[in-house]
Amino acid sequence: MAGRGEQRQTWLVLGASSSVARAFARVVAEDGADVILAGRDMDDMRGTAGDVSIRTGRKVDVLSFDAEDPAGHEAFAADAGKRAEFLNVFLAFGAMPEQEEIDADFALAERAIAVNYTGAVSVLHRLAPHLEAQGDGHVVVLSSVAGDRGRLKNYVYGSAKAGLNTYLQGLRARLFRKGVSVTTVKPGFMDTDMTWGLDGMFLVASPEQAARACLKAARKRRHVVYVPFFWWGIMTIIRHIPEFIFKKMNI
Ligand SMILES: NC(=O)c1ccc[n+]([C@@H]2O[C@H](COP(=O)([O-])OP(=O)(O)OC[C@H]3O[C@@H](n4cnc5c(N)ncnc54)[C@H](OP(=O)(O)O)[C@@H]3O)[C@@H](O)[C@H]2O)c1
Repeated sequence: MAGRGEQRQTWLVLGASSSVARAFARVVAEDGADVILAGRDMDDMRGTAGDVSIRTGRKVDVLSFDAEDPAGHEAFAADAGKRAEFLNVFLAFGAMPEQEEIDADFALAERAIAVNYTGAVSVLHRLAPHLEAQGDGHVVVLSSVAGDRGRLKNYVYGSAKAGLNTYLQGLRARLFRKGVSVTTVKPGFMDTDMTWGLDGMFLVASPEQAARACLKAARKRRHVVYVPFFWWGIMTIIRHIPEFIFKKMNI
């Protein structure tokens, strides 16, 4: 991807053991960028790093990163900033405990909030000054259609993603002033570990399709995209169902 001048592009991929993140790393490396894979599963990320660098000849680093350890995020962001001439950020990490399990154990609600909201805000907060200093670049964040409306079967996860969406609106306004785009990606269903074995899945996107849609959206500096695009229509209908009906629906 072209950046300002001749600077070498790097994508920092947060939550790099997600299959969407793995696919995204491959896609951006094929496109000519270096990659920093960051997450908890070092073995998985080393495997991805070897695969991507052999296929594409690009430099792929691996960094340890835990979204639930905000105290470590300042040093992590400084390290990532130093490794890249020109940094772009793809945030893929997330956690979706089943709502019924959350109802029985508040610790799971805390985890969903800590990963999907606090962890994302914490690391983006620490990365923002590096991006501002560059005066260009992209931030792409995997949120969810679940943030568009609180549902009986997914409302804690959905509320964390809704909070994230609002944070990203503000971050977009801040970074826009320095030439950096912020794209909120709202996937419907993707075929990943998170959805493995779940009932009621339909119109499921592959990790590769989702990764390509994310890169395309970054290039176009889109604000918010639904992946696949037709989820925009589905969520428009869902958002407009009157509350007195919606509260009775078993979704
Ligand atoms: N799959 C879907 O249908 C769907 C739909 C809408 C939105 N999304 C969103 O898309 C993103 C990718 O999800 P996915 O479907 O690829 O699910 P996934 O395979 O479960 O991936 C989630 C990723 O988050 C990482 N993660 C969890 N807790 C972490 C922590 N404390 N610190 C660092 N990394 C952590 C996991 O790392 P470990 O391997 O270390 O656990 C894993 O790499 C998530 O933000 C999810 O909310 C997914």
